[in-house]
Amino acid sequence: ACLVPICSLHGSAVTTVEGVGSIKTRIHPVQERLAKCHGTQCGFCSPGMVMSIYTLLRNHPEPTPEQIMEALGGNLCRCTGYRPIIESGKTFCVESSVCQLKGSGKCCMDQDERAFVTRPEKICTKLYNEDEFQTLDPSQEPIFPPELIRMAEDPNKRRLTFQGERTTWITPVTLDDLLELKVNFPKAPLIMGNTTVGPSIKFKDEFHPVFISPLGLPELHFVTTTDDGVTIGAGYSLTQLTDSLHFIVSEQPKEKTKTFHALLKHLRTLAGAQIRNMATLGGHVVSRPNFSDLNPILAAGNATINLVSKEGERQIPLNGPFLERAPEANLKSGEIVLSISIPYSTQWHFVSGLRLAQRQENAFAIVNAGMSVKFEDNTNMIQDLQMFFGSIGPTVVSASQTCRQLVGRQWEDEMLSDACRWVLDEIHIPPEAEGGMVEYRRTLLISLLFKFYLKVRQGLNKMDPQKFPDIPEKFLSALEDFPIETPQGIQMFQCVDPYQSPQDPVGHPVMHQSAIKHATGEAVFCDDMPSLDQELFLAVVTSTRAHAKIISIDTSEALSLPGVADVITAEDVPGDNNHHGEILYAQNEVICVGQIICTVAADTYAHAKEAAKKVKITFEDTEPRIITIEQALEHNSFLSAEKKIEQGNVEHAFKYVDQIIEGEVHVEGQEHFYMETQTILAIPKAEDKEMVLHLGTQFPTHVQEYVAAALNVPRSRIACHMKRAGGAFGGKVTKPALLGAVSAVAANKTGRPIRFILERGNDMLITAGRHPLLGKYKIGFMNNGVIKAADVEYYVNGGCTPDESELVLEFIVLKSENAYYIPNFRCRGRVCKTNLPSNTAFRGFGFPQATVVVEAYINAVASQCNLLPEEVKEINMYKRTSKTAYKQTFNPEPLRRCWKECLEKSSFYARKQAAEEFNKKNYWKKRGLAAVPMKYTIGVPIAYYNQAAALVHIYLDGSVLLTHGGCELGQGLHTKMIQVASRELNIPPSYIHLSETSTITVPNAVFTAGSMGTDINGKAVQNACQILMARLQPIIRKNPEGKWEEWIAKAFEESISLSATGYFKGYQTNMDWEKEEGDAYPYFVYGASCSEVEIDCLTGGHKLLRTDIFMDAAFSINPALDIGQVEGAFIQGMGFYTIEELKYSPEGVLHSRGPDDYKIPTVTEIPEEFYVTLVRSRNPIAIYSSKGLGEAGMFLGSSVLFAIYDAVTAARRERGLSKTFAISSPATPELIRMTCVDQFTDMIPRDDPSTFTPWSIRVS
Ligand SMILES: Cc1cc2nc3c(=O)[nH]c(=O)nc-3n(C[C@H](O)[C@H](O)[C@H](O)COP(=O)(O)OP(=O)(O)OC[C@H]3O[C@@H](n4cnc5c(N)ncnc54)[C@H](O)[C@@H]3O)c2cc1C
Ligand code: FES
Repeated sequence: ACLVPICSLHGSAVTTVEGVGSIKTRIHPVQERLAKCHGTQCGFCSPGMVMSIYTLLRNHPEPTPEQIMEALGGNLCRCTGYRPIIESGKTFCVESSVCQLKGSGKCCMDQDERAFVTRPEKICTKLYNEDEFQTLDPSQEPIFPPELIRMAEDPNKRRLTFQGERTTWITPVTLDDLLELKVNFPKAPLIMGNTTVGPSIKFKDEFHPVFISPLGLPELHFVTTTDDGVTIGAGYSLTQLTDSLHFIVSEQPKEKTKTFHALLKHLRTLAGAQIRNMATLGGHVVSRPNFSDLNPILAAGNATINLVSKEGERQIPLNGPFLERAPEANLKSGEIVLSISIPYSTQWHFVSGLRLAQRQENAFAIVNAGMSVKFEDNTNMIQDLQMFFGSIGPTVVSASQTCRQLVGRQWEDEMLSDACRWVLDEIHIPPEAEGGMVEYRRTLLISLLFKFYLKVRQGLNKMDPQKFPDIPEKFLSALEDFPIETPQGIQMFQCVDPYQSPQDPVGHPVMHQSAIKHATGEAVFCDDMPSLDQELFLAVVTSTRAHAKIISIDTSEALSLPGVADVITAEDVPGDNNHHGEILYAQNEVICVGQIICTVAADTYAHAKEAAKKVKITFEDTEPRIITIEQALEHNSFLSAEKKIEQGNVEHAFKYVDQIIEGEVHVEGQEHFYMETQTILAIPKAEDKEMVLHLGTQFPTHVQEYVAAALNVPRSRIACHMKRAGGAFGGKVTKPALLGAVSAVAANKTGRPIRFILERGNDMLITAGRHPLLGKYKIGFMNNGVIKAADVEYYVNGGCTPDESELVLEFIVLKSENAYYIPNFRCRGRVCKTNLPSNTAFRGFGFPQATVVVEAYINAVASQCNLLPEEVKEINMYKRTSKTAYKQTFNPEPLRRCWKECLEKSSFYARKQAAEEFNKKNYWKKRGLAAVPMKYTIGVPIAYYNQAAALVHIYLDGSVLLTHGGCELGQGLHTKMIQVASRELNIPPSYIHLSETSTITVPNAVFTAGSMGTDINGKAVQNACQILMARLQPIIRKNPEGKWEEWIAKAFEESISLSATGYFKGYQTNMDWEKEEGDAYPYFVYGASCSEVEIDCLTGGHKLLRTDIFMDAAFSINPALDIGQVEGAFIQGMGFYTIEELKYSPEGVLHSRGPDDYKIPTVTEIPEEFYVTLVRSRNPIAIYSSKGLGEAGMFLGSSVLFAIYDAVTAARRERGLSKTFAISSPATPELIRMTCVDQFTDMIPRDDPSTFTPWSIRVS
């Protein structure tokens, strides 16, 4: 929607999520099912999901599962892991492929799993009840307004002009009119889908005084077929193009439609459905993006462009010179594209499209290609060859010289080998090329060429098997891209005790308390709060240098611009500008790119942003500039002292082991990518220096502290309100305090309310994320796989200020032994101080990074001992009640159970065998499996951080207002708290209301993080409710048959207080770092997961085939929410370990600042088969014997990383390469491809690193 210009909607009927359904009127089945299937957590993405499914249903009331996948491909969700969203969509399919186990009892899984489901412990698999769903009745949908139909059909339609302050929008009504306009305004862009023009206005500051919008012109919308081919109007959207091509290929023989097939393949994954619905063929061809997925194929297929102008019509070839923007091949002034003609392919003509992207759908290609070859009839002699490559330079490029040289050659291996060498000579990607991945992109050029070579050979063989031998069977799998399948699976959990009171919601998969509001768009996020009188918007000016002196700040031009109220700098902070080492506004010097130097307050965000660009800052670079961990180690630059845990005698043990290995593991960082960026509304009050803040945070107390310190007022004057956050994942623990204080200073200075919403790019730049980590290990072990000694060092890149880095490091040191007992164990860690933005908390708090190192050394030991990694894991796993390395006692029985069940129920060893068989038969595709065990902890080793409070009011009508110190971030904390209160007060959940979290109702609340939200707040809520029930007991005893309302009325009459605070002192955890021991954590959460992947050795792409998770949930208070957390964390972890990649320049500039260049998983990345089981255990210490599951699933995503490594190992083994190689994270397509060394990686030119500055560097 952000790309649809409002003027283009003239004559359209627009339906938004509010128009689909509402709580106030009637909710729509799409909204209802998304909510009831638990397809919403934080709710920020939910209206988008609803609209995608709704739109599909308006066009296809009975969609197929594939259509559901396609419709959702352009939507992002950071919370759910998509499985429940897809499932809600699939409920509309006639033949749902949701596992049939839930319906007929017939399971798609094998006998083993079925046996598991029907075992005596009463396992449930139903997280919702389909019988409750309203049916979809398409006749109830609003019709297209007749007056708009009449308007569209009006024969006397006239040119439409909208005149704005700076721009004019003109909609012509005929082609002649358009051509006239094109003459009058030759530089005005034609706004078709606006998917090229829109982003360049938004992100590249392009300005156009006039826009011409011919989108609706019928002359641009047509398809004609002739004997030679097809001509398609330039106004056709890519979706319409897809539909037309599908129709044509169904009608025409295959040999004629090879170009169309190639186009269809790329159209399926080009952007997402929303963009494909808007973007037009003409716009795509003319804008000639260097990453174009269609132009290389159109060029290879000899398409032509039909142009028209006032002068008449002409045709130009869509060829190399056009795509390379040769001046003579450009459109002339006044010309527009009328249509594109695509000829049919012929019998001895082959056309293909090839591409590889970081993510299967909705990601620009890293390299793509369109290739075609024409042979002399009945021969394999090349008559014509064309190769076009995208994403390797500023334009699509043609390997025309190579192609010319190859004419007359036979299509055989020798030709291929020359072709590869010549292409590499002809297409030079410089070592410092923008976008980086230079050697990978060079390798892809020839890997894609090889794929094409094989495809053509196979095609020739089909034409004449006698003459043209087939390709080796082992190579067949190289030909196919990974298919996009509709995922399926089962979620299993313990059924509620049949004797439990039917009113008691504890243990039931209760829907998220706000789910329906999320789905209707009625849930209020900060940015939804209506504007306030005199409100100002804030825009930031940030440092462009990593380490520099600020020489001057010139705000004069910014201040003179319209609407600007003020510019705020460090000078304006009345109190602490530097609170506990965290700097609000940079003063005198900057210590990272992205540090806030000043903010501009203006009447609109557009004005504030415009003015922010005009603030002139001069810098003088300062030495040293430290970006990477390696540089920090060189400069001895640390944020904290070393933390160490040691047991046994490591040095001594090394003397008596069979083997010793040493290694290093790099784990890069991660961006939170919460859907709701940081948003703050700061409202100064007229009296007593009071200030009210509304924001999405995990830690309102912290915001209060920072704002009070910045304004130099007591904390009692600062009220922080937090209703809900659109995702947080640790990114809203500390950063909102800093940003809240920045806003509060602006509000204080201007005396007006301040609205501060970080744009995605700034959010990614300023707030940083998960700590990159370097692990160094030395492991001593016996030949049977028993590890006797480990000496491990961890270094994390903390960035420029302390934030929570020291605590993250402590977690790493304490938790990184994971599930393994190593008798002689030393683990040390330090936080490196660098000139990067300050890294912060992120789900798992260091554990997901550190355990990669652990699993990496386990893998290395396995390789040395010729054992499977899983065998070494089992050998070294904690087996009986034991002490951790820091001497905390625990019983690992649930760990063993999760591990055993995971291996058994996933049929690990049988599937491992099958994968090996597959690998033997396939040279270019390999399968890999890995299982990882997990021992995780919740909470923190500081007792006072585990306390919590709640406030419960009962009103005289019996309704209850429940408040506690925890924040609702999408995890369903409030829903669980209502379940707790409902059980304790013995009233239905509908009596209980939970409005918001605030520093006014519950003071000094600790952060909602560390998986302990339910644990600690649940105990506080329980305590408050029990206090109230104790007060009510005498009344209830006197009138046991009475109703709740009667008891409450009576209590009031008897002057019994109906309000209580509940308190939980907290788990008594402690850690003595001097002695290196303590009861650091209240309890352990165990789990295991097994994943299977298939990799494409030629491109580096991978597909996640199946994942099984067994998570020790003890007793789940709400299995739907807990499974939601496990799945969501797993997918977030999988993203972290595979495709999410932050790119920093050597100067410390973050390149990846938005969804275009940072890829989180989408529907296409989730496992094709996904089985999640909550395992029952006991945990008497926690509320209702539950366990905190918010973070634990994150690490289980590493089973995908290690499955990829397993597959890569298989490829390397087959190619005679060393079994061991450095493991690092993420395992991106680049890493996979470049680790699967082969003749193509050997062929590419390599550059001497000392001769150039790379575009991006590793910071771990
Ligand atoms: C989020 C996103 C993801 C994307 N992902 C991909 C991807 O994976 N692969 C890929 O290949 N592409 C991708 N694209 C690019 C997309 O395919 C192009 O932006 C789109 O096809 C351009 O068409 P449009 O109608 O929106 O052009 P517009 O933005 O409306 O116009 C683009 C330019 O073309 C000119 N123009 C338009 N029509 C005509 C005409 N008939 N005659 C003369 N000039 C004309 C206009 O003057 C303008 O200068 C993506 C774009 C976005 C926004
Ligand atoms: S529920 Fe999808 S982003 Fe939070």
